Amino acid sequence: MSTDDPEPRVRACYATWAQSYFADYYGADAPYPPVHREIVREELRRSGARSVLDAGCGPASILRFLAEDGLDVFGFDLTPEMVDEARRVLAAHAVPAERLWQGSVLQADSFQAAGIDSRLDAVICLGVLPHIRTQDDAQVAKNLVAATAPGGLVMAEARNQFFGLFTQNRFTYDFLANELIRVGDLQTKDGGAAVPDALAKLRSHFRMDLPPVRKGTQGEPGYDEVLSRTHNPLLLKQQFEEAGLTDVRLLFYHYHCLPPMLAHYAPDFFRRESLSMENPEDWRGMFMASAFILTGRRR
Ligand SMILES: C[S@@+](CC[C@H](N)C(=O)[O-])C[C@H]1O[C@@H](n2cnc3c(N)ncnc32)[C@H](O)[C@@H]1O
Repeated sequence: MSTDDPEPRVRACYATWAQSYFADYYGADAPYPPVHREIVREELRRSGARSVLDAGCGPASILRFLAEDGLDVFGFDLTPEMVDEARRVLAAHAVPAERLWQGSVLQADSFQAAGIDSRLDAVICLGVLPHIRTQDDAQVAKNLVAATAPGGLVMAEARNQFFGLFTQNRFTYDFLANELIRVGDLQTKDGGAAVPDALAKLRSHFRMDLPPVRKGTQGEPGYDEVLSRTHNPLLLKQQFEEAGLTDVRLLFYHYHCLPPMLAHYAPDFFRRESLSMENPEDWRGMFMASAFILTGRRR
């Protein structure tokens, strides 16, 4: 493993979060309802899957609902504290502890475990891709597809890089500078002071101090202090197709009716109107939704 392996810091980030993660994102007081949960359940229902592996399952946030839906559930996670919590939660659904184990989506052998005697009908991976280095995306896609039975369903969730075009903050500048303009290349051309001057002017159009950086609370690195990148939906689709998926669709969720920096003008209104926009198939999700689920079938 290279020295810039993000896993130790990611594990440290989540180690203190195992008990509260579910309440933070799925509980009644969560800042936004977990709208993706129904997208995942619906896709699984439509696929007819009877067994599912959740790669990076956290505290069984989704698996607990899938167990209620009658699916045969399996899961692994990088963070041992998350695995312990998932075991505790799923014990109430009569899921044996050995169906949950520690592992990494980067390692093909993490997808094998006691109790799995063949490839599964569905493999899902939610909230994990942000913590994967760009150069490792293809390997993760390959591992997810390989663990799925032919014709089976794969779902991978990611943070939407194109949302940065809507937010008018640091993310907007980063997308324009790094993905569209490709500042690194431009700076090698002979433009004198023009390029730095132009970029400084460009930055002045955006709130570079936003969004606030999410820090740790007990000395551990916070979510924005570990690798937590966004993905280009179109490139990710291409990558999963190359890894062996067909019928790939992009389902967008967590809409924002206005750029989030304007939410404070009327928070309840903002939340209500954003919720009313939730439609995974609306093209505006490509820009106004902060996350998406890639879904497809193994060829
Ligand atoms: C944002 S949480 C999502 C948890 C759960 N999937 C959900 O949707 O609620 C991300 C989870 O991914 C796990 N994770 C991060 N990198 C991982 C990796 N390389 N392999 C497996 N799990 C990983 C973390 O430990 C954490 O539990």
